[in-house]
Amino acid sequence: MIIEPKTRGFICLTSHPTGCEKNVLNQIDYIKSRPTTNGPKNVLVIGASTGFGLASRITSAYGSNASTIGVFFEKPPTEGRPASPGWYNSAAFETQAHKDGLYAKSINGDAFSNEIKAQTLKLIQDDLGKIDMVIYSLASPVRTHPDTGERFKSVLKPIGDTFTNNTVDFHTGVVKEISIAPCSGDDIDNTIAVMGGEDWKMWIDLLKSADVLSEDFKTVAYSYIGPSLTEAVYRKGTIGRAKDHLEATAFEITDSLKAINGKGYVSVNKALVTQASSAIPVIPLYISLLYKVMKEEGIHEGCIEQIERLFNERLYAEDLQLDEQGRIRVDDWEMRDDIQAKVLELWKEATTETLPNIGDLEGYKTDFFNLFGFNVEGVDYDKDVNEMVAIPGLQ
Ligand code: NAI
Ligand code: NA
Repeated sequence: MIIEPKTRGFICLTSHPTGCEKNVLNQIDYIKSRPTTNGPKNVLVIGASTGFGLASRITSAYGSNASTIGVFFEKPPTEGRPASPGWYNSAAFETQAHKDGLYAKSINGDAFSNEIKAQTLKLIQDDLGKIDMVIYSLASPVRTHPDTGERFKSVLKPIGDTFTNNTVDFHTGVVKEISIAPCSGDDIDNTIAVMGGEDWKMWIDLLKSADVLSEDFKTVAYSYIGPSLTEAVYRKGTIGRAKDHLEATAFEITDSLKAINGKGYVSVNKALVTQASSAIPVIPLYISLLYKVMKEEGIHEGCIEQIERLFNERLYAEDLQLDEQGRIRVDDWEMRDDIQAKVLELWKEATTETLPNIGDLEGYKTDFFNLFGFNVEGVDYDKDVNEMVAIPGLQ
């Protein structure tokens, strides 16, 4: 079939297998020339199909020949209806990994559930024995608690006061003011239940009790801080509370892994266009200004560049360069004073008329469509493609 992008607000309902494949192969190429010395060997990636999780899987596999198991929640294709992009990404990754003699298998289902955890554990026991790294990279709006069956919904709201600031509709380029009412009721607790650290800890507890974690085991989850501009809706909002919880969980995990000298870390990453971040108000305007400034300075990175730096210059380097709160920071370039000062200046000037010049709206849009395999360089979109792609290592 011929597949074209079909957008509804900040989501795209279609995705392109060849474009997704090209994105994955580009990331593999990037990592092949940047190996990780003493990198991980047996890796579980939870949230492995897109964004930072996919980049972590690729960096593990192609940076240090790691065997990888990927867990994700993606929609398979049906005749005439393309799969979600993470499906095609995983198909492309596993196809290439197998060609290159790398072990790569995956499990598609709800990582929050006991069933998927048990299935993953069994696969580790059967195929890998022990693992030395778990990357936790889930981004989800909902979680059904595995023990109580309660379904939690996360919200992206400020706490206390209504937040008013500019945002951009990146499809139309219209910059306009929006107001977001403060959270109420159980919003904070619910958001912590979905995006906090409880599920991460459940995974590690299970794997530890089954004795499948090797000596010096590491686990890493991803967090975000960002500038004062987005603070009210992000870091000091409901999602920020969940990130606080996630960060505190890293220490609990480290405490629980003393016997094997295991470590739990949070890495604070840069703001990037992913399916998760395009849903957050104000962030798209911030990202389009940030991209402009960082590209001008020659320090722009995508997911793969971020994770390569995380592995090679932090996790598997001499010095993790932890901040005062014990976090790994690869948002260091985003947060540089000179970068933030420039973004803040541009923010004051940003209007529908000025944004195409002062911001990188085109870069934002390209990245957004790239997430779904569209607008990828070197792909012929007029060519018929088979939407019924299989993931070779799917269990
Ligand atoms: P993403 O949307 O690209 O990836 C989410 C992954 O989680 C996908 O593999 C998806 O299949 C999987 N997933 C979602 N629900 C699932 C479920 N119930 N069961 C199994 N798998 C499930 O998101 P992104 O942006 O890569 O986010 C990953 C982490 O990085 C999040 O914690 C996010 O807060 C964090 N982060 C994101 C930043 C950004 O700007 N995008 C910046 C810094 C941190
Ligand atoms: Na991810």
